Amino acid sequence: MLEIKDLTVSVEDKIILNNFSLKINQGEVHAIMGPNGSGKSTLSNVLCGKDNYKIKKGEIIFKEKNIFELSIDERAKLGLFLAFQYPVELPGVSITPFLKTAINSKLKSLGKKEIDSLEFAKKVREASEYLGISKEMLKRSVNEGFSGGEKKRYEVLQMTLLNPDLTILDETDSGLDIDALKTVSKGVNRLKRKDNSIVVITHYQRLLDYIIPDFVHILVAGKIVRSGDKNLALELEKKGYENII
Ligand SMILES: Nc1ncnc2c1ncn2[C@@H]1O[C@H](COP(=O)(O)OP(=O)(O)OP(=O)(O)O)[C@@H](O)[C@H]1O
Ligand SMILES: [Mg+2]
Repeated sequence: MLEIKDLTVSVEDKIILNNFSLKINQGEVHAIMGPNGSGKSTLSNVLCGKDNYKIKKGEIIFKEKNIFELSIDERAKLGLFLAFQYPVELPGVSITPFLKTAINSKLKSLGKKEIDSLEFAKKVREASEYLGISKEMLKRSVNEGFSGGEKKRYEVLQMTLLNPDLTILDETDSGLDIDALKTVSKGVNRLKRKDNSIVVITHYQRLLDYIIPDFVHILVAGKIVRSGDKNLALELEKKGYENII
């Protein structure tokens, strides 16, 4: 699904990702943990094609394509989805038409016919009920004035409707209350398939009780310093970074 080889990325002459390598196969869930500023969001941003980053070395192959040759839009159409750590507010952009355009644009790129309005309404209703998003919220502009937790639910609603092959969830658990954490995790879990992959970036082991990872990686100063299974997250929670690295 995804292979990152020896990726070195800098911002304003500061190296943020340093010879970073990671391979993710279909059907796998990977968790990335790491101290503040270790480069987790930078990694997600580089994957999705946000500019301002200087790629100094390395390559990223997604579904057998070199990602650096693709625009943000092309990456999304190919099946890459990033749930932002800080979702962007889009005042004046209403949720429902925005979601419909996003779905149709993806379907079109796959050579499929557009979703009809009834089917779309049904999908949105079903997914929002599941994620605890009210009808009133769906009438608003994308993320405008949403609470922290509402923004995270909305990210997972987008994920549900776009049904990506590779999803990166950047601290989707931050800002969620205890019940919402369960709801949103369930929402993510039901999108798991044998042929898609998920990367969860998180600071807390607790999320990994719900979204159970096959692999856990610890990122420090732009490099994976340890990888293991879900027990590594438990060990990290007990011992802290200093003692585990
Ligand atoms: N545009 C920028 N200009 C200067 N420094 C930047 C820029 N973008 C990122 N950085 C720096 O890169 C480092 C990594 O940032 P990043 O957001 O990837 O960390 P993170 O691991 O996601 O941290 P957190 O856990 O706090 O979300 C930080 O030191 C950050 O200040
Ligand atoms: Mg971050």
